[in-house]
Amino acid sequence: MKLKTLALAAALVAASTAHAQGLPKLKVGLMLPATGTYAALGTAIENGFRLYVNEQGGKLGGREIEFVKVDDESDPAKATDNVNKLIKRDNVDVLVGTVHSGVAMAMAKVAKDTGTLLLVPNAGADAVTGPMCAQNIFRSSFSNWQPGYAMGEVMAKKGHKNVVTITWKYAAGDESVRGFKEAFEKAGGKVVKELSLPFPNVEFQALLTEIAASKPDAVYTFFAGGGAVKFVKDYAAAGLKKSIPLYGAGFLTDGTLEAQGADADGLLTTLHYADALGNPKDNAFRLAYAKAFKLQPDVYAVQGYDAAQMLGIGLAAVKGDVSKKAELAAAIEKAKIDSPRGAFSVSKSHNPVQDIYLRQVSGKENKLVNVASKALADPGRGCKL
Ligand code: PHB
Repeated sequence: MKLKTLALAAALVAASTAHAQGLPKLKVGLMLPATGTYAALGTAIENGFRLYVNEQGGKLGGREIEFVKVDDESDPAKATDNVNKLIKRDNVDVLVGTVHSGVAMAMAKVAKDTGTLLLVPNAGADAVTGPMCAQNIFRSSFSNWQPGYAMGEVMAKKGHKNVVTITWKYAAGDESVRGFKEAFEKAGGKVVKELSLPFPNVEFQALLTEIAASKPDAVYTFFAGGGAVKFVKDYAAAGLKKSIPLYGAGFLTDGTLEAQGADADGLLTTLHYADALGNPKDNAFRLAYAKAFKLQPDVYAVQGYDAAQMLGIGLAAVKGDVSKKAELAAAIEKAKIDSPRGAFSVSKSHNPVQDIYLRQVSGKENKLVNVASKALADPGRGCKL
């Protein structure tokens, strides 16, 4: 061998040894809202995600984690540009996001087109684990259908017959109401009026007047974040809380109770998490979260934590090599994720199969009433995997 070739070979050996000893950092693109009605949700997700990574010594699958962040503003019009920036300019290895269903669908499209691994830590857009499902897309949260469907059964069992729904007019609100209606009408109830307003408007007055005039047995709603705070307060201020019981997907009262105060007291909601579940994993999680962030965790923090757990499981199976897509996906598909909500696995379309809890607000907590729907799986309609 010529001297030059030998030197080159030696250099290559040295380089590959260095590679094995210290893999380059793994770039995680965090695309979450930092402003607007969902800002607090984005913060809780990031906190949860970082908590898990920190518990693992800052590494997943042997690779140190580096974050690149974008404020998506919960604005679908900016979503494709934002996600392309993360992939093309910042060269992220993994995408994590987001809260808003419309933004998440744009992320899913780019993830599918580029093959980039996407973990969705909140947005429930049914399509993401439906027609848009893919080997490289996983959700750590829920589908919009899930809490809605569970509440349809709960409200029918309570004997409510005529219900008005009210929500924001976009994928999450529409799909939450659709899930509710599917179960409620199957059980003999009737949705007599579907009210909505554009996201993220909070001018509820005219619609509350319409609810009062319709005199339904009850109201089902999907609102979240800052909008949920205002809706619960306005509903009480309009004098409706005493006369027409208000129910909702649990986002109505999760992460919002400090601000809602007594106006939220007694509200019944359905969600895949509750305060004080009391299982060992949840107890440890809540202690660690409160210590790290001086805040009580909510469902969004849990979803962020579990997105990091899912990434950790996938990366461990491929020793940090994200290019091994099939093996990485297979590892998450067969995993049981040790979540604070209770252990769960994912469905064929990569959405959590999970218990949906009925909770009731008492003071500053969403207290567990019972399991409304055991191991509820989103039907994954339109997903071919
Ligand atoms: C959604 O847009 O999918 C969404 C947003 C906030 C929530 C839940 C769902 O709390």
